[in-house]
Amino acid sequence: MPVNADARDRVIVALDCSRSEALRLGRELAGTVGWVKVGMTLFYACGPDIVDYLRGLGFKVFLDLKLFDIPHQVRGAARSAVSCGADMLSIHGLGGADMAAAAREGASSVGRTSPCDIVAITVLTSMDQACADSVGLTDPIDREVARLASLACANGADGIVCSPNEASSMRALLGPAARIVCPGVRPAGSDLGDQSRVATPAEAVAWGASRIVVGRPITGADDPVAAAQAVVDEVAAALD
Ligand code: C5P
Repeated sequence: MPVNADARDRVIVALDCSRSEALRLGRELAGTVGWVKVGMTLFYACGPDIVDYLRGLGFKVFLDLKLFDIPHQVRGAARSAVSCGADMLSIHGLGGADMAAAAREGASSVGRTSPCDIVAITVLTSMDQACADSVGLTDPIDREVARLASLACANGADGIVCSPNEASSMRALLGPAARIVCPGVRPAGSDLGDQSRVATPAEAVAWGASRIVVGRPITGADDPVAAAQAVVDEVAAALD
């Protein structure tokens, strides 16, 4: 794939906003980035139709619903999510082996020509060590991430979601085929917001991210298209 197309395909814009704002941003950003992310904010407001609409604009859609329930429920939820058009779906690694396997089964039970990747959330990028400790994840964060990543990928997940800081060790652990998706990405000089474990787009890709998720630095910019293009250009330069 030419570098610019590859770079576009590695950038996922998180549309954590209202329906009307998502429709506007989707129309504006079509052609600049390859992916958008529909998370709970937008999906709960709009339902499955939003996935269809965004795919109609030419995006691939990361449905970031962070599934975390008993295997029976997650199997059904994954089937429903893939049926509504998701190209990538997130589950929580903390749900364990049987839950990851159930997500895989549910996703694979939908007859589709293009498969949907299942990625497991390891430790949220908003969590620092103190926060992780407070919920009982008392090993150093990189060890917690490695344990959850290995478990999920051994049980049917195609990859993981982790901070850019863990991308290189996760690439070494999981191998070249694993999807390593990194939120917590901030172009130099932009606001951290509630993110703790962050890096720039170039760093994230150089360290092994297959794809990066960028939300507010693009959606909250005065010119979202220019901000998105700057991220794509930075990724292209890092890949070159
Ligand atoms: O606006 P910002 O760039 O911080 O958005 C990051 C996005 O990535 C949010 O939609 C958030 O739900 C998601 N995310 C995350 N950390 C994870 C998994 C997903 O920030 N571990």
